Amino acid sequence: MASTTTLLVLLIPLLWINVACVAGNFNKDFQITWGDGRAKILNNANLLTLSLDKASGSGFQSKNEYLFGKIDMQIKLVPGNSAGTVTAYYLSSKGGAWDEIDFEFLGNLSGDPYILHTNVFSQGKGNREQQFYLWFDPTADFHTYSILWNPQRIVFSVDGTPIREFKNMESNGVPFPKNQPMRIYSSLWNADDWATRGGLVKTDWSKAPFTASYRNFNANNACIWNGGKSSCKSSSKPSASSASWLSQQLDSTGQQRLRWVQKNYMIYNYCSDKKRFPQGLPVECTHS
Ligand SMILES: *[C@@H]1O[C@H](CO)[C@@H](O)[C@H](O)[C@H]1NC(C)=O
Repeated sequence: MASTTTLLVLLIPLLWINVACVAGNFNKDFQITWGDGRAKILNNANLLTLSLDKASGSGFQSKNEYLFGKIDMQIKLVPGNSAGTVTAYYLSSKGGAWDEIDFEFLGNLSGDPYILHTNVFSQGKGNREQQFYLWFDPTADFHTYSILWNPQRIVFSVDGTPIREFKNMESNGVPFPKNQPMRIYSSLWNADDWATRGGLVKTDWSKAPFTASYRNFNANNACIWNGGKSSCKSSSKPSASSASWLSQQLDSTGQQRLRWVQKNYMIYNYCSDKKRFPQGLPVECTHS
């Protein structure tokens, strides 16, 4: 009996720390960058909402810059008629030869599917689009969108299911994002000139404001870049540099899940767009 009580006394603060950690804190990790009050941090900084109306969208960015990481965010997309709206959630570095890892969610009419658009830029060059439908309604609840970025690969996942892998193919001459720290950005904006059915369906402003919500940001396994130094190489955390996510690859279940998504939910792959690349597909497409 005594030992159970002792155990509980020891466990409760641990659990509490754990929950606090997982829940994150939007005030600590992010700053609202634009939208004139349309972006809000709510519920003890556990929730962030972006909104869009006819006058403006809104956005936020991370306070930290990261060089590699496993970064999760739960997002609930604009419900109802979201046609014409785009919710972008991405990592990006600065400058003319920037690197970028993109999730973009293209809204749709009520009941019609969102498109999840992805892209990878290295040294200022993108043109690596892959698009997907989702196997659930992304507006009904929060779902976890993750980026694993280590020196060997970038893996995009949805609720733990990998949907896309971009491997480091520097040995084949394809630049890979690995030298420029990136910040996390997100924004909700109007793109009805192209987003829904290629621009055919316009935003219905009578439904404004449109709102997307964020919670449970987790970058506990990420290397923060500050003043030219990585938190992962600091001597105070010697074990972090050998953290498993830094060399993580897809196991056989992950590869199977990836194939399942690509077979059933992928609606565009630049690597199969021969019309677009008449001179030959990009190098990374022919080596995977
Ligand atoms: C919207 O719905 C239409 C019809 O089902 C579909 O063709 C399109 O891919 C959907 N998504 C977007 C973003 O246009």
